[in-house]
Amino acid sequence: MKTLIAPSILSADFAALGDEVRAIDAAGADWVHVDVMDGHYVPNITIGAGVVKALRRVTTKPLDVHLMISPVDAFIPAFSDAGADIITFHPEATPHPHRTAQLIRSLGKKVGVSLNPGSPISLLDYLWDEIDLILVMSVNPGFGGQAFIDAVLPKIAALRLEISKRGRPIYLEVDGGVTKNNAADVVAAGADVLVAGSAVFTGKAADYAANIKALRG
Ligand code: DX5
Ligand code: ZN
Repeated sequence: MKTLIAPSILSADFAALGDEVRAIDAAGADWVHVDVMDGHYVPNITIGAGVVKALRRVTTKPLDVHLMISPVDAFIPAFSDAGADIITFHPEATPHPHRTAQLIRSLGKKVGVSLNPGSPISLLDYLWDEIDLILVMSVNPGFGGQAFIDAVLPKIAALRLEISKRGRPIYLEVDGGVTKNNAADVVAAGADVLVAGSAVFTGKAADYAANIKALRG
């Protein structure tokens, strides 16, 4: 199966965001990963649904929206209306994760659930039937450019095994510190979608295709 690459626009030039997204689209990105942070659930503030709506006009690639906000439910309809294709939330950031998953699904979007480096797989218990994607954080959420936490590799492998036991497709996406040096290990552990911010948005736009290719191995 082809490994999908989802560049995180967190590392893009925000003053030229539309051009940056056009550039990764042309460079072969499969999805566009959008990190939404609230300065409350995570110690940083980034962007909101208005930016997602603006980016929807510049690419037809799936918009993979990673919500690091708490409480999250009230914001989900706005991201759905803005054109998100996948909406991922953190189960610790909502009092009723099952309800949050149902809400995303009711809007016709793919449901993602994210596990922080310290979060156990058991957080997914009783949610499996609602999930289209698991986003494994390989750094603590909040900032781009952090170092990959190797202790997450066995968790990726364990999740791949769990997914194989279910009868339906669930993406296994890994986010944080992914580079050309560790991408093969992450894929070998079982990931099928790689998020990469700093590893893609390095150099000039003309370099992005090579950066993405290097991640595919
Ligand atoms: C961290 C974000 C990641 C991050 C990835 O909270 O969810 O998407 O920006 O950036 P790199 O690849 O630079 O670690
Ligand atoms: Zn992310």
